Amino acid sequence: MLNAQQQDRYQAEGYLVLPGFKPEHELAALRERARQIVEAFDAEAHRSVFSTNDQGRRSADAAFLDSAEGIECFFEEEAFDTAGRLRQSKALSINKIGHALHDLDPLFDRFSRTPAMAELAADLGLVDPQLWQSMLIFKQPGIGGEVGWHQDASFFDTAPRSVTGFWFALEDASIDNGCLWVAPGGHHGPLRERYVREGDRLHMEPLDATPWPTQALPVEVAAGTLVCLHGMLPHHSLANRSPRSRQAYTLHATDGRARYAEHNWLRRSPALPVRGFAA
Ligand code: FE2
Repeated sequence: MLNAQQQDRYQAEGYLVLPGFKPEHELAALRERARQIVEAFDAEAHRSVFSTNDQGRRSADAAFLDSAEGIECFFEEEAFDTAGRLRQSKALSINKIGHALHDLDPLFDRFSRTPAMAELAADLGLVDPQLWQSMLIFKQPGIGGEVGWHQDASFFDTAPRSVTGFWFALEDASIDNGCLWVAPGGHHGPLRERYVREGDRLHMEPLDATPWPTQALPVEVAAGTLVCLHGMLPHHSLANRSPRSRQAYTLHATDGRARYAEHNWLRRSPALPVRGFAA
């Protein structure tokens, strides 16, 4: 799948852009399926989740934890007005769907598990890939919020570190609609924080005071492009203030040879064991 030069570039820069990885008809099918999931989602029943008081935080955490083995829709922060009403249609208010689309929805399963993906994961060094998480990220026009600097390894801690991200552009991504920004080579630095689950509570724990990069490179890509991200690579994205959405589908896999940390938020029960890229 990858030639030696691509593998070298991934090791040196911590990311790799693969244009034309998926054909438009597969992207369109995924976007349509996501639209159906949002349409079927009962926004009223989930509204309490987004209040800022302590009880609201607990139910938000509970909904988040449940999504490890489910398909849940999460609202944009700016989706509601001060009276708790949606500012715009539900279809334009959802931030993302997560986190087990690839195991529970046949269309997402087929998109995620292909011989090409298995080969690619192997080329990136995942000997026994374990596909923990999938997300459909909408980055809605106008209100799609920013995602601050982070390293994906904060959320999928393994020893040794192994988490690898696969970011599929379902639509063109450019600076104006909130594309990814990366710090090339930044994966050689330390892990700055980790996301810890204690019981059913979640918090970010600082690990290293190294500041986030001051220089970043925009990853402007056409729909169908796959961006591979080393789990230690600092990356972020800005808010989408354009009139166009910037949908992406992401997968995160670790290597089964590495020890998966007990404090990781995403856990699976025996009913839905984590699997690799084999169909
Ligand atoms: Fe990320």
